Amino acid sequence: MNESDDFPLCPANFVCRCAKVSEDTLVGALVSMELATVNDIRREIGAGNGCQACHRVLRRYLQRQKRAYAENGPVLSLQCP
Ligand code: FES
Repeated sequence: MNESDDFPLCPANFVCRCAKVSEDTLVGALVSMELATVNDIRREIGAGNGCQACHRVLRRYLQRQKRAYAENGPVLSLQCP
């Protein structure tokens, strides 16, 4: 599986289909609310509270956000070129 398979979404698309949470909403919350865990995401924006199929993707966003922030500051999108 390559990187684009892991993150096939663009900002207007859903990262959590159950809660209909978009990448824009998730990344905005990661930056503004300083969310550090999937449970933080679940509590603050509701993503991940359904079937939990998105938890792996949510963890990847958390990891990338943490790494990118340490190197360059906040990341606004992980997907679109
Ligand atoms: S897709 Fe996120 S909880 Fe189901």
